[in-house]
Amino acid sequence: MEILLLNGPNLNMLGVREPGTYGTVTLDEIVKRVQAHAQTHGVSVRALQSNHEGALVDAIHEARTWAAGIVINPGAYTHTSIALRDAISAVGLPVVEVHLSNIHARETFRHHSYLAPVCVGQIAGFGWRSYILGLEALLGHLGALPE
Ligand code: DQA
Repeated sequence: MEILLLNGPNLNMLGVREPGTYGTVTLDEIVKRVQAHAQTHGVSVRALQSNHEGALVDAIHEARTWAAGIVINPGAYTHTSIALRDAISAVGLPVVEVHLSNIHARETFRHHSYLAPVCVGQIAGFGWRSYILGLEALLGHLGALPE
């Protein structure tokens, strides 16, 4: 089983970007930790980060041909992108939305997610561990974990 791990704008800056909010772990390191965790379940993870909305839309479309599901941190596109929402609806793959920070405890413009209604669920506020929790949630949803 293969899973797509998708990261949106500015997440390539993790480690140096607002460490008080997002922590000090780099995206490369998060990807390694997610891949290592997935391996313990016999699952492989392909990761992609882009600062461009269209590239993220393309990646979601392509995932239809090979991925069992998607873990996505859409970054600021969470709060703006009907295009990403429509891409998720279009492919029909199960998607789990993750955020390092608790978006519901921050500025009001971060409280709304255009993507959440078309996702299986959302995990927010646990730093880099949100990704591990998101992967676990997706694998559970896919029936890939022991009961
Ligand atoms: C974020 C939260 C978003 O509001 C913000 O724009 C990000 C990161 C998070 O992981 O906490 O870029 O998705």
